[in-house]
Amino acid sequence: RVAAPSALVLFGVTGDLARKKLLPAMYDLVNRGLLPPSFSLVGFGRRPWSKTDFQDYVREAVTANARTEFQEAVWEQFAEGLRFVQGEFDDTEAYSNLQDVLRELDQERGTSGNHAFYLSIPPKAFEVVCHQLAENGLAEHENASGWRRVVIEKPFGHDLASAQELNEIVESVFSRDAIFRIDHYLGKETVQNILALRFANTMFEPLWNANYVDHVQITMAEDIGIGTRAGYYDGVGAARDVIQNHLLQLLALTAMEEPFDFTARALRAEKAKVLDAVQLPEDLGQASALGQYRGGLQGGLEVRSFFEEDDIPEDSRTETYAALRLEVYNRRWAGVPFYLRAGKRLGRRVTEIAVVFKDSPDRLFPLHDTDEFGNNAIVIRIQPDEGVTIRFASKVPGTQSEIRDVTMDFGYGHAFTESSPEAYERLILDVLLGEPPLFPHHEEVELSWKILDPFEEYWAENQIQPEGYDPGSWGPESADRLMQRDGRTWRRP
Ligand code: BG6
Repeated sequence: RVAAPSALVLFGVTGDLARKKLLPAMYDLVNRGLLPPSFSLVGFGRRPWSKTDFQDYVREAVTANARTEFQEAVWEQFAEGLRFVQGEFDDTEAYSNLQDVLRELDQERGTSGNHAFYLSIPPKAFEVVCHQLAENGLAEHENASGWRRVVIEKPFGHDLASAQELNEIVESVFSRDAIFRIDHYLGKETVQNILALRFANTMFEPLWNANYVDHVQITMAEDIGIGTRAGYYDGVGAARDVIQNHLLQLLALTAMEEPFDFTARALRAEKAKVLDAVQLPEDLGQASALGQYRGGLQGGLEVRSFFEEDDIPEDSRTETYAALRLEVYNRRWAGVPFYLRAGKRLGRRVTEIAVVFKDSPDRLFPLHDTDEFGNNAIVIRIQPDEGVTIRFASKVPGTQSEIRDVTMDFGYGHAFTESSPEAYERLILDVLLGEPPLFPHHEEVELSWKILDPFEEYWAENQIQPEGYDPGSWGPESADRLMQRDGRTWRRP
């Protein structure tokens, strides 16, 4: 479906996310014919830019980062709808200029009052922007024509209380249906495929429960460090940055019951039920591990330690690696641990969900206690090598009864000629189409904080200093001990 004529106002247009993902994604949507020719983008920012300066900036971001081919004619069409409004977030005059610009776009380009406000800004600025939008008649109001929507980027607060506060602020200005919270993992094809794999087939679901599953491992490993993001990352850490949102959403999709349909209501209700059923371990210290990357060689290159990154204080207790052990307390999953881990500067960039099955009761074949014989597993490869792997045992040819693990692979590259759109393309399009299923509801955000808050409090109260780990490794030793205590090991993706 192609979106209706509309204008998107981007706050935080000079930020990293805008340059790397949002602006290129909008160009890609235009290039794929999914946004109408009249689509208009208004940048709002502090820089003293003219319209041409802004166009130059967007062009650079697009040529550097777009996924589709750069075509001059498509660019010209996109560039015609670009506007820039200069101002501080609290500058009333700037909002009145914004109103003029939007009015002009409505008339000249037919965007007809369909306006989305994308807040790619620190949460502390949400309040002032939302209030300014309301006071200047830009948000929803009785006489407004068209629709008004607001898009908010994570972090949605830093704990439950601040998330609730943020939510109140946004909901005081926009109605619930008009709020789109971005968790870009939900925009990924492979994440959307989790429900297809589970519920469009018959052969997985009978095994997808505590009778057969030993445990689940959800890994989000990155090989990069924090780069220039110290201002955001320090004091946040891996658990708040990606476990509270991306990894708990992956857990919810892996563990949830089949939704009645694909409406936002049905999906959110099932995800919320699972998150609500997550049980915290009694000993939060034994069920978690924190790490910080050291300096050293990674893939032949000398990299800095976390403490040597710009603007990181020497005594920072921010973790760049976190692992948690959780359980989902319902009939389907009782007794099955879910291990979640996320870290920077690890062995390689990979996100995957491994559903690991129990040992076979069969003693006919000698069990080899080596790397070559593990448990059966279904591995959903979220990225970068998108696909699904099934691991099972097979008899080694020519031997009496020797068993070795083999894998069966599905890879997107082999199975489909269609390419996967970037997560942000799908999500921006859905905002403009008014399709909410891929956006987490506030309730899910709250439930996720309820899971993480006790861990964060425990780490803070006990002043846990994350353990160092070498760049290019798979995290701190305490994370391995966490698994060993349960008689298990982490997978080496
Ligand atoms: C973001 C985090 O949400 O996800 C970043 O804030 C992280 O720290 C990024 O690098 C990873 O996204 P992706 O899509 O590359 O896995």
